[in-house]
Amino acid sequence: MARKQASNVVVGLDIGTSKIAAVIGKIKSDGEIEIIGMGTHPSRGLKKGVVVNIDSTVESIQRAIDEAERMSGYTVESVYVGIAGSHIQSFNSNGMVAIRNKDVQYDDIERVMDAAQTMAIPGDQRVLHILAQEYIIDNQGGIREPIGMSGVRLEARVHMVTGSVSAAQNIAKCVERCGLAVEDIILEQLASSESVLSEDEKELGVCLVDIGGGTTDIAVFHSGAIRHTAVISVAGDQVTNDIAVALRTPTQAANEIKLKYACALPQLINHDEEIEVPSVGDRPARCLSRRTLVEVIEPRYEELFQLIQKELRSSGFEDVLAAGIVLTGGSSLVEGAVELAEEVFHMPVRLGYPEGVTGLSEAVNSPAYATTVGLLMYAKEHSNLPSEPARSRLSDTASVFERMKNWFKNSF
Ligand SMILES: Nc1ncnc2c1ncn2[C@@H]1O[C@H](COP(=O)(O)OP(=O)(O)OP(=O)(O)O)[C@@H](O)[C@H]1O
Ligand SMILES: [Mg+2]
Repeated sequence: MARKQASNVVVGLDIGTSKIAAVIGKIKSDGEIEIIGMGTHPSRGLKKGVVVNIDSTVESIQRAIDEAERMSGYTVESVYVGIAGSHIQSFNSNGMVAIRNKDVQYDDIERVMDAAQTMAIPGDQRVLHILAQEYIIDNQGGIREPIGMSGVRLEARVHMVTGSVSAAQNIAKCVERCGLAVEDIILEQLASSESVLSEDEKELGVCLVDIGGGTTDIAVFHSGAIRHTAVISVAGDQVTNDIAVALRTPTQAANEIKLKYACALPQLINHDEEIEVPSVGDRPARCLSRRTLVEVIEPRYEELFQLIQKELRSSGFEDVLAAGIVLTGGSSLVEGAVELAEEVFHMPVRLGYPEGVTGLSEAVNSPAYATTVGLLMYAKEHSNLPSEPARSRLSDTASVFERMKNWFKNSF
């Protein structure tokens, strides 16, 4: 018989535009995450990262969860879930307070984080994350662990992420309709960066680019902290659509052709290669040169990389990315994506696979599961597991987290 979800078992649920993936992880006493279950099902109820059909999303979540439960032998009760979409907004902010008792205590951190979020947020948006970048005590900056330090004035620089209330509520509705509780809602690229980026890259300066089906999610890190996040509404679905239109083939066939023959750089293919393309209606299939296909794909990926470059330029971080760009997400798997990105960005580019987990890690060994695995890592850092002592972290504070959970609970 299936066991109830134990307190050291966490579940990541990635509700993507192309697939819904559930992964169950056991957190060992040494902090290691062992993957013990995994389930995935095609997603049909989302557009550009946002739930547009509750019933079909619920069905896909249920299937993915069922599969993961069967594999692990546990019954899932609560999940950490991702959020993306063009409704996400982010900005940097800061706050300042007087330190109450000479040394910085937890209460001072709580107050300074409160002070950092006093700016006006549109009524239809709610705070998803308040991520500390650095603390400044009496003009001394660059402090990551302020607790216990002496001073008079405490400042915090933070990165705030907000999202549409209704988009978050629809995600929660789908999860709850499956009989599951939402532990937390996490910005998808924040989750992906947990599983794909190294601490060194975050320190040196790096941009994570998660190219999925519906959205491309980016996150910039520098000096060990998150500096900028953005969501671009161009990703794999557009590439499929371009192929369907240009080759006059049904969308399903266009996606299959993409998975089999796609390449983002014409120089990498053999020029006399031919591919078979199904036609629309009763017309017979045709043979086309693979080059024709690549000539459709290259401009779309180039456009996407240029949009990211524009975003990086306007954020002011383009010149500080010493560790370059890390591509992840299913659409980063297209042949030649890394090479084309290097041409556009003039920076080192690598492909990001989720790392740092054991157990059934082969099952999640694809850039498409960067978010799913990252959700587990985020869960490990933020859940108060018996083996994990509560601590003050640079990336978040428990009080903010609790408040967010409360907001979330109160919104139904
Ligand atoms: N080998 C491949 N070559 C090209 N594209 C691929 C390959 N494998 C997967 N894709 C594309 O990746 C996309 C799915 O990626 P992913 O699973 O990361 O998306 P998602 O998380 O469901 O969507 P999103 O994050 O945008 O909501 C699809 O468009 C799919 O066609
Ligand atoms: Mg995704």
